[in-house]
Amino acid sequence: MNTKLLKDTPEDLQTAADLLRSGQLVAFPTETVYGLGADARLETSVKAIFEAKGRPADNPLIVHISDLSMLNDIVTEIPDLARKLAEAFWPGALTMIFPKADCIPLVTSGGLNTVGVRMPSHPMAQKLIQLSGCPIAAPSANRSGLPSPTTARHVMDDMNGRISAVLDGGQCEIGVESTVICFDDPETVHILRPGLYSVEDFQPFARHVYVDKAVYTQIAPDAKAASPGMKYKHYSPNAKILPVDAPDFNSFVNYVLSHQIENTYCLLFDSDPEIEGVPCLHYGDDGLHQAHDLFFRFRELDEKGAKLVYVRMPRENTRASLSVYNRLMRAAGFEVMKL
Ligand code: TXA
Ligand code: MG
Repeated sequence: MNTKLLKDTPEDLQTAADLLRSGQLVAFPTETVYGLGADARLETSVKAIFEAKGRPADNPLIVHISDLSMLNDIVTEIPDLARKLAEAFWPGALTMIFPKADCIPLVTSGGLNTVGVRMPSHPMAQKLIQLSGCPIAAPSANRSGLPSPTTARHVMDDMNGRISAVLDGGQCEIGVESTVICFDDPETVHILRPGLYSVEDFQPFARHVYVDKAVYTQIAPDAKAASPGMKYKHYSPNAKILPVDAPDFNSFVNYVLSHQIENTYCLLFDSDPEIEGVPCLHYGDDGLHQAHDLFFRFRELDEKGAKLVYVRMPRENTRASLSVYNRLMRAAGFEVMKL
């Protein structure tokens, strides 16, 4: 299959929409990461997403919509709290879990009777959904297990020859995937996967807000996870990622200099100085910049042939920093070098 690279033009967007309507797979930019889309209602097309990614069949897909009438079509119940959050955070980087309607097949929901729904804010994603008229099922457009793609080139690196087209919208603004939440009861927000939005952002709307323990710890592969995606090793480049929890920069440097193997790299904060004798990349100083850069740097490290990467731990565990912490820990298999 020859994968077309499409641009942000009316003709190319129409081509992408037509491909989706005819059951083909099209990758597209969102404000978080690139998604690999198919009509969420078409069983065969959705199956093709799982094949192209090499994704386990029990890991459900997020369905992307462009307006609230589409939500009514694909879910059977919308809690009041969800309506309030939709008003506050949509279009945007928030995915909410609802009981699914029959038009969403079980392949899409990974066998669950619920469906995750998100209204993305990226103009190309919105146009694609509107032009196609389809609710679009789209996981991140990486091969399963690799870091999510934040540029069209990353998608091509993973998917060239496997899918019909990639819409190029430049680099994604946020850089980590959406926040995924469900509702345990009418007043409780349960965060299954942190993203740009976290506990502090939902507190004004809900009496209880909490983060699933799978965000902080490794779940056994045979355990039942609230969000199936949380049990799989994820987001990791080929290089071994080792976060180093050091009291200060000097102790970080001392540790690295005495524990180098071939092709050792460091992933530092922007404000950290270079380390003589060790190649270093930088990934921002605060949660927002780190979220933006993390997956990009992971892929860059693989391109450079890094074998081992010592990473400075995010300084905080709130808001966007929680998502950075979570992706880093998952990439490291939850192993940390505590000094
Ligand atoms: O920002 C994003 O969310 C991107 C863009 C493309 O929208 N998509 C994305 O999809 O990250 P994916 O498939 O890579 O991650 C979806 C996560 C998985 O961890 C999955 O288990 C969880 O959402 N999820 C989806 N539907 C669910 C459901 N019905 N119940 C529980 N978890 C669900
Ligand atoms: Mg993913």
